[in-house]
Amino acid sequence: MTSFDPSALLVSRSKTADEGAIIRMSQRARELRANGTDVVSLTLGEPDFDTPVNIQAAATAAMNAGLTHYSPVMGIPELRAALSKKLKAENGLDYSANEICLANGAKQAIANAILSIIEQGDEVIMLAPFWVSYEITVRFAGGTPVVLHSTVEENYKVPAGRIAAAITPKTKLIVLNSPSNPSGAVWSKPELEELAEVIKAHPHLMVLSDEIYEYIIFDGEMSSIGALPGMRERTITINGFSKGFAMTGWRLGYAAAAEPIARAMARMQSAISAGANQFVQRAAIAALEGPRDSVERMRKEYQLRRDMVQGGLNAIAGVRIGNIPATFYAFPDVSALLGKKAGNHVLDTTDAMCDWLLDEHHVATVPGTAFGAPGSIRLSFACSEAEIGKAMARMQTGLGSLI
Ligand SMILES: Cc1ncc(COP(=O)(O)O)c(C=O)c1O
Repeated sequence: MTSFDPSALLVSRSKTADEGAIIRMSQRARELRANGTDVVSLTLGEPDFDTPVNIQAAATAAMNAGLTHYSPVMGIPELRAALSKKLKAENGLDYSANEICLANGAKQAIANAILSIIEQGDEVIMLAPFWVSYEITVRFAGGTPVVLHSTVEENYKVPAGRIAAAITPKTKLIVLNSPSNPSGAVWSKPELEELAEVIKAHPHLMVLSDEIYEYIIFDGEMSSIGALPGMRERTITINGFSKGFAMTGWRLGYAAAAEPIARAMARMQSAISAGANQFVQRAAIAALEGPRDSVERMRKEYQLRRDMVQGGLNAIAGVRIGNIPATFYAFPDVSALLGKKAGNHVLDTTDAMCDWLLDEHHVATVPGTAFGAPGSIRLSFACSEAEIGKAMARMQTGLGSLI
């Protein structure tokens, strides 16, 4: 009898869906910890705070009231109405409840959107550094990612002129993420206005605007591109509860778009999963309409940590970091240190540098290759100040010793 090899059945799509470096580095950090090593892990993009108690209480009450059944695919009407109100009041976005589709996490909302409008032959402009999931999903849909790079000196924002020059008749979508994972960049209103003009000059071009970090801003202001004149129909706005409300494990996100697109996204979701969790949606109403003091408390805490990380990285020769106006990530450019030696070991890539930092100095970070920017590394500062202090001291010693 011949032996059966299940891996021989895998199609290329299954290999596309590889989150690579983030998972690899967090897994390696966990393994070292399990062996007793005192590792500081700055890998995962997950708030270290628990979900505020008023939100937890609303979920419990909903469960006790028997709201444990399937929800409508687009989400419960009460939450869609609350979101329509929120988007208008906080973001100036004009979406009716019928144009909002809840999903099992913003990640699923992004997949619903991309699968609805991208197919073989379509080009999608991605602004590096970018969150890796966009690229994976575009490839999944058969589309071609067109990656445009920006530098730390440009505050990691690709100028509108360079975006305009990359548009071809095949370009259908631009992915925008402000505030950005991994760079923390925030696009100002004038910068978005410039980008909007570029988009409106093309008959078949849309933007997917991922605004999930909107509540974690320290400097500057949140602006939504879909609120600009003529952009409502051309924008798919993505948002969710994971980051600002510390609800990663609850899995609730949403997309807002013109009704035909919102309905198509719901069809994708219906085919792949179903409506988002019913009692979580009830809790989300409490998150939106209840007190926001815990959201503000978390934001202030991230800001203190941002100051520590920015100051700590700035003190290391060869590390370039600008101001981090938002999120809980730092994305320093370390390209000036590549090619240097740690003992006999040459650190010629950020992958090698991150492995070395973990093995020798017990700090886990993520190489920029995971974000389309191989000269930088990402540090998540969603961890305690004590851990950040330890990580900064270790990185200063480690990177300072390279020759
Ligand atoms: C930019 C960005 N968008 C979306 C998500 C996914 O959020 P959710 O937990 O709601 O799926 C993340 C999570 O890391 C993210 O960084």
